[in-house]
Amino acid sequence: MMLEPALAEDLSEIHALLSAARERGQFDTTPSMERLAAVLGQQAGDARVARVAGRIAGFVAVGAMGLVAPPSTQAALLDIVTDDEQLQAPLVDWAIATAERLPSFRSLRTLRGRGVAGPAHFSKVREIWRMDCDLTMPRPTPSRGDVDVVDYSTRTITDDAWVQVINESFAEHWGGYLPWTLERWRERLASRGPVGLELMARQHSEPAGVILGHVSERDDGRSSPAGFIEVVGTRPSHRRRGIAEVLVRSALDRFSQQGLHRALLMVDAGSSTRAAEVYTRCGFERTFRYAVWEVPLQRAR
Ligand SMILES: CC(C)(COP(=O)(O)OP(=O)(O)OC[C@H]1O[C@@H](n2cnc3c(N)ncnc32)[C@H](O)[C@@H]1OP(=O)(O)O)[C@@H](O)C(=O)NCCC(=O)NCCS
Repeated sequence: MMLEPALAEDLSEIHALLSAARERGQFDTTPSMERLAAVLGQQAGDARVARVAGRIAGFVAVGAMGLVAPPSTQAALLDIVTDDEQLQAPLVDWAIATAERLPSFRSLRTLRGRGVAGPAHFSKVREIWRMDCDLTMPRPTPSRGDVDVVDYSTRTITDDAWVQVINESFAEHWGGYLPWTLERWRERLASRGPVGLELMARQHSEPAGVILGHVSERDDGRSSPAGFIEVVGTRPSHRRRGIAEVLVRSALDRFSQQGLHRALLMVDAGSSTRAAEVYTRCGFERTFRYAVWEVPLQRAR
């Protein structure tokens, strides 16, 4: 079976495959055209399509950027989408052979909705959950004498300090968290749209934790836009003092004030810091479960 390079002109046909895959439970949300284009265009990666009777019936991409999984220092990311079961095996074989040629990664990783079978040769290593919060329900407003919450727009905290608090919080995170750089921070600020959310909690005036979010129009079968929480992190020295709870509740208040009716986030369900518990306490409920599948790459054995 011939795999052809995936080209920009194939985007809408591939996107239709992604929509069908969401309906089968592979994704919680159909990945956006922009994300798909970025995955196709990435330098450190490659993507192919499989045609059956002239139609694109399969898509495979391997690289530093994936359609759903966050970037990792340890794992190359894989996405396979097909409505033809017979294509799974050749797409997986191509993906493993391609990942073996990428420098520096120890494993190949893919995320799939828990109800969908994993790729051959891969083992399930973790779960990542999507959690949603109904913002129309009444919630307590956070108020703590020892903690103040500072908005990025006040410009009272330097960009370096934001990046440092995020990286300190995620240094031990599972899966090879890709540290933020000033460049990535500024790119995010430029691309997040006019309504962003960047809050830093300080305890006794010391930086303690951050929360980042934005308004997201997701193709997930629900009509209204949602407040998406991208990052929540408390510095190790300030954990278990209720900092994350203050940050999450403050973010929910902001989203609510912007007229949003729901918030959502993705969380590592196996986190030793029990992040999902914090979100549950703040009113989030699990709405989708991804399984994380990995295969080690030969070079690392
Ligand atoms: C997950 C994370 C954000 C939680 O931050 P935190 O500020 O410690 O969270 P909180 O203090 O609000 O809650 C954590 C626990 O401390 C408890 N706690 C809160 N205030 C407390 C206090 N004064 N004394 C003792 N315990 C307290 C909470 O009840 C909670 O307990 P639980 O785990 O049994 O539910 C933080 O551990 C972190 O940055 N982890 C790494 C990054 C990460 O995984 N982020 C989540 C993205 S997936």
